[in-house]
Order: sequence, then C-alpha cells, then structure tokens
Amino acid sequence: MSKDTYYKDHWVEIEPDRLERYEAQFVWGARGNRLIEGADIAEGQAVADYGCGPGYLSVELAKRVGAGGHVHAFDVNAEFVRKTQDRLAAEGLADRATVTHLQADVLPLEADSLDRVIVKNVMVYVDDPLSSFREFRRVVKPGGKVHAIDSDFYMAAFDPIDVHDWRHVLDAGIHAFRTPTIGRKMYGIALEAGFTDVAVEVIAAPDFSGRMLSFIKNTAGYAREGGKHDEAIVARVVDVASKAVEDGTFFALNPQFLVTATV
Ligand SMILES: C[S@@+](CC[C@H](N)C(=O)[O-])C[C@H]1O[C@@H](n2cnc3c(N)ncnc32)[C@H](O)[C@@H]1O
Repeated sequence: MSKDTYYKDHWVEIEPDRLERYEAQFVWGARGNRLIEGADIAEGQAVADYGCGPGYLSVELAKRVGAGGHVHAFDVNAEFVRKTQDRLAAEGLADRATVTHLQADVLPLEADSLDRVIVKNVMVYVDDPLSSFREFRRVVKPGGKVHAIDSDFYMAAFDPIDVHDWRHVLDAGIHAFRTPTIGRKMYGIALEAGFTDVAVEVIAAPDFSGRMLSFIKNTAGYAREGGKHDEAIVARVVDVASKAVEDGTFFALNPQFLVTATV
C-alpha cells in the first residue's frame, strides 16, 4: 500500500486479525444511542449510514426508521458491505435498506433526497472532509441533518501508558488517518461547506474495560507498517495496555465530537 493513500487503502484491504477486532469493536450498545441522539432519527425517514463498517449501526437505523423508512448504507470495503447485507437480512430488515460498495466520495443519490446523513468515525479517513460535507449537504433535504461523530486522536489519553511512548506510536502510525484532528475541525468545515446551523457536543466517556485496546493495537500495527518506529516502544505500549486491561488498571478517554449540521 502506498503511504500517501494508506489512510484509505487500509480500509479497502483489511488484514484478518484487524477485521476480527472490528467485529467486536463496533457492536451496537447503550453508548451508541447517546452518540446518535442529536440526529433525531424517526420513523419514515430516509437515512444514509456513510462508512457503515460491519453494519451494526445500519441495523439500528433500519429499526428506527421502520417499514416506511429507508437506510442507504455505504462503505469502501467489500467485506463490510457483505457483512452489513447479511446482518440486515438476519434481522429481517433487508427490504428497508440498500447497501452500496462505494468507489468514490460522491454519493449515488439525487439532490435533496435524504432526511439524515449519519457519518460515524469516518470523516477522519475521507480524502477531503470539506467536499464530503458539501456532498452530504447536496443530498439532504431542506430541514434535514448531517450528524457527524468523530474522534480527535491527539486528544485521546491513556493510562498507565507513558505519554511520550504513546505519542511515538501515534506519530509513527499517523499515515493511517487522513485528518487525525478531525474532531476539533468539523465545526469550521461544516460552516465552510455552507451550513449555517451547526451544533457541537463533546462526549468523553471513561473506558475502564479496555474498549480502546483494539485502537491501541491497530495504531501499533500502522506504526509497524510505516517502518519509522522504535519497535521497543511500540511493543511496550501494547504490553503495558494489555496488562493494564488484564489487571483492571486501564483507563482511557477518547472524546467524541458530535456535529449536527442542519440544512
Ligand atoms: C472506524 S470505521 C467506523 C464504522 C462504523 N461507522 C461504526 O462506527 O461502527 C470506519 C469505516 O469507514 C469506512 N471508510 C473509510 N474511508 C471511507 C470513505 N472515503 N468513504 C466511505 N467509507 C469509508 C471504512 O471502510 C470503515 O468501515
């Protein structure tokens, strides 16, 4: 994979162990409800799930929009597209969803055709966040909403990992993220894209159980892939985090920026 486009390529092709971690990482739970509350999803709506991953959110959205609504799920990874289709079918929801393998950052949808676009932990990876926000604005009807949820990876904190060690791993693996500070930038980007009504909330839920361990392991993998890392530091970070999860002393905070832009 080329280093210049690694941030996207590593989603188009995912190694088996990372793919397996995502199955557990993205499972829908109570925390997810809080993250999409501001999107105000209701029965009968047409909703896009942009960057749907393995499809847990698409299933939740399909339940919420009901038989009169529709979910348009999109992803760049063919395996995630298949998993999302299978997951919807297993829940008996296949007829209220269309799952599309996306090959470009343009949506195959008419202007003003959707009530909502939900984009959860994807803006950090898109080629050009401003043109993506413009594209979302194009497909949403007047009065509709774009609800973007994302991290700001330079604000994430982990204990007992040494701060300098973590910074080394993040810097060495940073090519996996197109805009690693997307959380703080989305407000300005939404305004620049032409939205005038933009609400922002930040939720920082402490993680004591090790939910973030997958992210730490993935970032260590990106650092190794980049080859500009100190292996002793990368190994120490994974080891310290894994042991802390095992002995119950792990603590992590990864603020989620919730940006709701109304058309
Ligand atoms: C961190 S995962 C989030 C998955 C899901 N939204 C969730 O929160 O459970 C990022 C997802 O975005 C997808 N993705 C990455 N770049 C994308 C792009 N340019 N357009 C659409 N999807 C993309 C990846 O394949 C992956 O499924």
